Amino acid sequence: MELLPLLIPSFCFLTLSGLTFGAESVTSVIVKEDDDAILPCSLSTNENIESIVFDWKKEETVQVFMYNKGDHHNNGLTDQNEQFKSRVTHFPEELKHGNASIRIKETKREDKGNYTCFFPKSRKIFKVELVVGAAPKPYVKLLKEKGLLECEVPGAYPKPTVEWQDSDNKTLFSKTLRDIEDKNRFYITIQTSVTKPGCYRCVATQMAKWHQIPSETCVPDVPEPNTGLIVAVAGLAGVLAVVVVGILVWCYFKNKKKNKQEGVV
Ligand SMILES: *[C@@H]1O[C@H](CO)[C@@H](O)[C@H](O)[C@H]1NC(C)=O
Ligand SMILES: *[C@@H]1O[C@H](CO)[C@@H](O)[C@H](O)[C@H]1NC(C)=O
Ligand SMILES: *[C@@H]1O[C@H](CO)[C@@H](O)[C@H](O)[C@H]1NC(C)=O
Repeated sequence: MELLPLLIPSFCFLTLSGLTFGAESVTSVIVKEDDDAILPCSLSTNENIESIVFDWKKEETVQVFMYNKGDHHNNGLTDQNEQFKSRVTHFPEELKHGNASIRIKETKREDKGNYTCFFPKSRKIFKVELVVGAAPKPYVKLLKEKGLLECEVPGAYPKPTVEWQDSDNKTLFSKTLRDIEDKNRFYITIQTSVTKPGCYRCVATQMAKWHQIPSETCVPDVPEPNTGLIVAVAGLAGVLAVVVVGILVWCYFKNKKKNKQEGVV
Protein backbone atom coordinates (compact mmCIF):
# COMPACT_ATOMS: atom_id res chain seq x y z
CA MET A 1 0.00 0.00 0.00
CA GLU A 2 2.84 2.38 0.88
CA LEU A 3 4.39 1.72 -2.53
CA LEU A 4 1.38 2.95 -4.42
CA PRO A 5 2.41 6.63 -4.58
CA LEU A 6 5.77 5.68 -6.05
CA LEU A 7 4.04 3.98 -8.94
CA ILE A 8 1.97 6.98 -9.85
CA PRO A 9 3.59 9.20 -12.46
CA SER A 10 4.54 12.64 -11.23
CA PHE A 11 1.93 14.51 -13.24
CA CYS A 12 -0.74 12.61 -11.33
CA PHE A 13 1.07 13.49 -8.16
CA LEU A 14 0.27 17.13 -8.62
CA THR A 15 -3.29 16.79 -9.78
CA LEU A 16 -4.08 14.22 -7.11
CA SER A 17 -2.53 16.25 -4.34
CA GLY A 18 -5.83 16.04 -2.47
CA LEU A 19 -5.37 12.34 -1.84
CA THR A 20 -3.74 11.16 1.33
CA PHE A 21 -0.40 9.57 0.60
CA GLY A 22 0.68 9.68 4.21
CA ALA A 23 3.11 12.42 5.12
CA GLU A 24 5.25 11.87 2.03
CA SER A 25 3.32 13.83 -0.56
CA VAL A 26 4.30 17.46 -0.88
CA THR A 27 2.56 19.86 -3.22
CA SER A 28 4.71 22.67 -4.54
CA VAL A 29 3.24 26.10 -5.06
CA ILE A 30 5.37 28.72 -6.78
CA VAL A 31 4.21 32.32 -6.83
CA LYS A 32 5.74 35.63 -7.67
CA GLU A 33 6.49 37.98 -4.80
CA ASP A 34 3.46 40.26 -4.13
CA ASP A 35 1.02 37.84 -5.78
CA ASP A 36 -1.53 35.90 -3.74
CA ALA A 37 -0.84 32.22 -3.14
CA ILE A 38 -3.44 29.48 -2.77
CA LEU A 39 -2.20 26.62 -0.63
CA PRO A 40 -4.27 23.57 -1.56
CA CYS A 41 -5.65 21.10 0.94
CA SER A 42 -8.64 18.91 0.21
CA LEU A 43 -10.02 15.69 1.62
CA SER A 44 -10.48 13.15 -1.12
CA THR A 45 -13.71 12.06 0.54
CA ASN A 46 -15.22 15.47 -0.29
CA GLU A 47 -16.97 15.30 3.10
CA ASN A 48 -18.39 18.44 4.64
CA ILE A 49 -15.79 19.92 7.00
CA GLU A 50 -17.81 22.93 8.21
CA SER A 51 -18.09 21.45 11.69
CA ILE A 52 -14.65 19.97 12.20
CA VAL A 53 -11.19 21.35 12.97
CA PHE A 54 -8.30 21.95 10.61
CA ASP A 55 -5.08 23.74 11.32
CA TRP A 56 -2.48 25.30 9.01
CA LYS A 57 1.04 25.69 10.35
CA LYS A 58 4.34 26.78 8.88
CA GLU A 59 7.49 24.81 9.68
CA GLU A 60 5.30 22.82 12.08
CA THR A 61 5.19 25.50 14.77
CA VAL A 62 4.13 28.86 13.35
CA GLN A 63 0.36 29.33 13.56
CA VAL A 64 -0.88 30.33 10.10
CA PHE A 65 -4.63 29.67 10.14
CA MET A 66 -6.91 27.65 12.35
CA TYR A 67 -10.51 26.70 11.68
CA ASN A 68 -12.53 25.30 14.58
CA LYS A 69 -16.14 24.45 13.74
CA GLY A 70 -16.89 27.88 12.34
CA ASP A 71 -14.50 29.87 14.52
CA HIS A 72 -11.25 30.90 12.90
CA HIS A 73 -8.48 33.46 12.91
CA ASN A 74 -10.53 36.06 11.08
CA ASN A 75 -13.49 36.01 13.47
CA GLY A 76 -12.06 35.82 16.93
CA LEU A 77 -9.62 32.96 17.38
CA THR A 78 -6.36 34.30 18.81
CA ASP A 79 -2.72 33.17 18.69
CA GLN A 80 -2.28 33.59 14.93
CA ASN A 81 1.32 34.51 14.11
CA GLU A 82 1.85 38.24 13.44
CA GLN A 83 3.27 37.53 9.99
CA PHE A 84 -0.10 36.14 8.88
CA LYS A 85 -2.52 38.55 10.60
CA SER A 86 -5.21 39.75 8.15
CA ARG A 87 -3.45 38.02 5.29
CA VAL A 88 -4.92 34.53 5.31
CA THR A 89 -8.43 33.58 4.27
CA HIS A 90 -10.15 30.25 3.76
CA PHE A 91 -12.90 29.49 1.27
CA PRO A 92 -16.16 29.15 3.28
CA GLU A 93 -18.13 27.91 0.26
CA GLU A 94 -15.61 25.15 -0.37
CA LEU A 95 -15.84 23.62 3.11
CA LYS A 96 -18.91 21.65 2.06
CA HIS A 97 -16.70 19.76 -0.39
CA GLY A 98 -13.88 18.98 2.01
CA ASN A 99 -11.72 21.81 0.72
CA ALA A 100 -9.60 23.46 3.44
CA SER A 101 -7.37 25.45 1.07
CA ILE A 102 -6.23 28.91 2.13
CA ARG A 103 -5.14 32.03 0.33
CA ILE A 104 -2.17 34.10 1.51
CA LYS A 105 -2.38 37.69 0.37
CA GLU A 106 0.59 39.41 -1.27
CA THR A 107 3.28 36.85 -0.56
CA LYS A 108 6.61 38.10 0.68
CA ARG A 109 9.95 36.36 0.52
CA GLU A 110 9.73 35.40 4.20
CA ASP A 111 6.51 33.46 3.51
CA LYS A 112 8.45 30.81 1.67
CA GLY A 113 8.71 27.50 3.45
CA ASN A 114 6.93 24.27 4.27
CA TYR A 115 3.32 24.38 5.39
CA THR A 116 1.10 21.67 6.81
CA CYS A 117 -2.65 21.35 6.79
CA PHE A 118 -3.73 19.07 9.61
CA PHE A 119 -7.07 17.45 10.43
CA PRO A 120 -6.86 16.35 14.11
CA LYS A 121 -9.98 14.19 13.93
CA SER A 122 -8.79 11.93 11.15
CA ARG A 123 -5.09 12.69 11.81
CA LYS A 124 -4.65 13.46 8.13
CA ILE A 125 -1.84 15.81 7.22
CA PHE A 126 -1.06 17.53 3.93
CA LYS A 127 2.21 19.22 3.07
CA VAL A 128 2.61 22.23 0.83
CA GLU A 129 5.92 23.80 -0.09
CA LEU A 130 5.60 27.47 -0.91
CA VAL A 131 8.27 28.98 -3.11
CA VAL A 132 8.18 32.74 -3.54
CA GLY A 133 9.81 33.86 -6.75
CA ALA A 134 10.92 37.21 -8.08
CA ALA A 135 10.51 38.32 -11.68
CA PRO A 136 12.05 41.75 -12.07
CA LYS A 137 11.89 43.52 -15.41
CA PRO A 138 15.22 43.29 -17.21
CA TYR A 139 17.26 46.46 -17.74
CA VAL A 140 18.42 46.99 -21.29
CA LYS A 141 20.93 49.41 -22.73
CA LEU A 142 22.55 50.11 -26.03
CA LEU A 143 26.33 50.37 -25.99
CA LYS A 144 26.25 52.44 -29.11
CA GLU A 145 29.90 52.92 -29.84
CA LYS A 146 30.41 49.16 -29.77
CA GLY A 147 27.16 48.19 -31.53
CA LEU A 148 26.17 46.01 -28.57
CA LEU A 149 22.90 45.51 -26.73
CA GLU A 150 23.15 44.61 -23.09
CA CYS A 151 20.44 43.08 -20.91
CA GLU A 152 20.66 42.74 -17.16
CA VAL A 153 18.29 40.71 -14.97
CA PRO A 154 18.68 42.03 -11.44
CA GLY A 155 17.98 39.23 -8.98
CA ALA A 156 15.37 36.77 -10.21
CA TYR A 157 14.10 33.55 -8.68
CA PRO A 158 13.75 30.79 -9.89
CA LYS A 159 16.65 31.08 -12.33
CA PRO A 160 15.44 32.56 -15.61
CA THR A 161 16.59 31.91 -19.12
CA VAL A 162 17.45 35.26 -20.66
CA GLU A 163 17.58 36.00 -24.36
CA TRP A 164 17.63 38.75 -26.92
CA GLN A 165 15.07 38.55 -29.71
CA ASP A 166 14.70 40.59 -32.84
CA SER A 167 11.40 42.04 -34.07
CA ASP A 168 10.52 38.67 -35.68
CA ASN A 169 10.91 37.01 -32.27
CA LYS A 170 13.99 35.23 -33.47
CA THR A 171 16.47 34.47 -30.72
CA LEU A 172 19.82 36.14 -31.30
CA PHE A 173 23.16 34.71 -30.38
CA SER A 174 24.33 36.34 -27.19
CA LYS A 175 27.26 36.21 -24.85
CA THR A 176 26.82 35.74 -21.10
CA LEU A 177 28.78 38.35 -19.17
CA ARG A 178 27.51 37.50 -15.73
CA ASP A 179 25.67 34.52 -14.27
CA ILE A 180 25.81 34.46 -10.50
CA GLU A 181 23.65 33.39 -7.61
CA ASP A 182 23.55 35.32 -4.38
CA LYS A 183 21.15 34.64 -1.49
CA ASN A 184 18.81 32.64 -3.71
CA ARG A 185 18.67 35.32 -6.40
CA PHE A 186 20.11 35.02 -9.89
CA TYR A 187 21.91 37.92 -11.54
CA ILE A 188 22.39 37.52 -15.26
CA THR A 189 23.80 39.87 -17.86
CA ILE A 190 23.97 39.06 -21.56
CA GLN A 191 25.13 40.98 -24.64
CA THR A 192 24.38 40.63 -28.31
CA SER A 193 25.77 42.56 -31.24
CA VAL A 194 23.43 44.45 -33.51
CA THR A 195 23.91 44.11 -37.20
CA LYS A 196 20.87 45.97 -38.46
CA PRO A 197 18.56 48.73 -37.25
CA GLY A 198 15.30 47.71 -35.61
CA CYS A 199 13.69 46.96 -32.28
CA TYR A 200 15.04 44.26 -30.01
CA ARG A 201 13.55 42.67 -26.91
CA CYS A 202 15.19 41.07 -23.94
CA VAL A 203 13.01 38.32 -22.50
CA ALA A 204 13.54 36.62 -19.14
CA THR A 205 11.53 33.41 -18.79
CA GLN A 206 11.05 31.68 -15.45
CA MET A 207 7.78 29.82 -15.29
CA ALA A 208 5.85 29.25 -18.49
CA LYS A 209 2.63 30.54 -16.93
CA TRP A 210 4.16 33.69 -15.49
CA HIS A 211 3.47 36.79 -17.44
CA GLN A 212 6.74 37.89 -18.97
CA ILE A 213 7.65 41.53 -19.03
CA PRO A 214 10.13 41.91 -21.87
CA SER A 215 12.23 45.03 -22.11
CA GLU A 216 12.58 46.58 -25.52
CA THR A 217 14.98 48.97 -27.15
CA CYS A 218 15.17 50.26 -30.68
CA VAL A 219 18.33 50.91 -32.63
CA PRO A 220 17.77 53.68 -35.21
CA ASP A 221 21.01 53.05 -37.09
CA VAL A 222 23.77 50.56 -36.72
CA PRO A 223 26.94 52.26 -35.61
CA GLU A 224 29.78 52.17 -38.15
CA PRO A 225 33.01 50.74 -36.87
CA ASN A 226 34.95 53.87 -35.88
CA THR A 227 37.84 53.48 -38.36
CA GLY A 228 37.38 57.09 -39.57
CA LEU A 229 38.00 58.45 -36.14
CA ILE A 230 40.94 56.14 -35.52
CA VAL A 231 42.62 57.21 -38.77
CA ALA A 232 42.03 60.88 -37.91
CA VAL A 233 43.46 60.51 -34.40
CA ALA A 234 46.46 58.54 -35.65
CA GLY A 235 47.08 61.10 -38.41
CA LEU A 236 46.91 63.99 -35.96
CA ALA A 237 49.30 62.24 -33.58
CA GLY A 238 51.71 61.64 -36.46
CA VAL A 239 51.68 65.28 -37.53
CA LEU A 240 52.18 66.38 -33.93
CA ALA A 241 55.16 64.04 -33.51
CA VAL A 242 56.84 65.39 -36.65
CA VAL A 243 56.33 68.97 -35.47
CA VAL A 244 57.71 68.23 -31.97
CA VAL A 245 60.75 66.40 -33.32
CA GLY A 246 61.30 69.24 -35.80
CA ILE A 247 61.26 71.84 -33.02
CA LEU A 248 63.65 69.78 -30.88
CA VAL A 249 66.11 69.35 -33.75
CA TRP A 250 65.90 73.05 -34.57
CA CYS A 251 66.54 73.98 -30.93
CA TYR A 252 69.46 71.58 -30.72
CA PHE A 253 71.23 73.07 -33.71
CA LYS A 254 70.42 76.60 -32.66
CA ASN A 255 71.91 75.96 -29.22
CA LYS A 256 74.98 74.31 -30.67
CA LYS A 257 75.57 77.31 -32.92
CA LYS A 258 75.09 79.74 -30.02
CA ASN A 259 77.47 77.75 -27.78
CA LYS A 260 80.08 77.68 -30.53
CA GLN A 261 79.87 81.45 -30.86
CA GLU A 262 80.37 81.84 -27.09
CA GLY A 263 83.23 79.34 -27.16
CA VAL A 264 81.72 76.99 -24.58
CA VAL A 265 82.22 73.76 -26.53
C1 LIG B 1 -10.40 24.32 -3.28
O1 LIG B 1 -10.77 25.68 -3.36
C2 LIG B 1 -9.84 26.54 -4.02
C3 LIG B 1 -10.37 27.96 -3.94
O2 LIG B 1 -11.63 28.10 -4.53
C4 LIG B 1 -9.67 26.09 -5.45
O3 LIG B 1 -8.70 26.86 -6.08
C5 LIG B 1 -9.24 24.61 -5.48
O4 LIG B 1 -9.18 24.16 -6.81
C6 LIG B 1 -10.22 23.76 -4.68
N1 LIG B 1 -9.68 22.40 -4.62
C7 LIG B 1 -10.39 21.36 -5.05
C8 LIG B 1 -9.70 20.04 -4.94
O5 LIG B 1 -11.50 21.49 -5.52
C1 LIG C 1 10.93 22.38 2.67
O1 LIG C 1 11.55 21.29 3.34
C2 LIG C 1 12.53 20.62 2.56
C3 LIG C 1 12.98 19.41 3.35
O2 LIG C 1 13.26 19.73 4.68
C4 LIG C 1 13.66 21.59 2.27
O3 LIG C 1 14.65 20.97 1.49
C5 LIG C 1 13.10 22.78 1.51
O4 LIG C 1 14.12 23.72 1.27
C6 LIG C 1 11.96 23.43 2.28
N1 LIG C 1 11.36 24.42 1.41
C7 LIG C 1 11.45 25.75 1.61
C8 LIG C 1 10.81 26.62 0.59
O5 LIG C 1 12.00 26.23 2.60
C1 LIG D 1 6.37 38.20 -31.02
O1 LIG D 1 5.92 37.83 -29.74
C2 LIG D 1 4.98 38.74 -29.18
C3 LIG D 1 4.69 38.34 -27.75
O2 LIG D 1 4.95 36.99 -27.53
C4 LIG D 1 3.73 38.76 -30.05
O3 LIG D 1 2.80 39.69 -29.51
C5 LIG D 1 4.11 39.18 -31.44
O4 LIG D 1 2.98 39.11 -32.28
C6 LIG D 1 5.21 38.27 -32.00
N1 LIG D 1 5.67 38.82 -33.27
C7 LIG D 1 5.96 38.05 -34.34
C8 LIG D 1 6.44 38.77 -35.54
O5 LIG D 1 5.82 36.83 -34.33
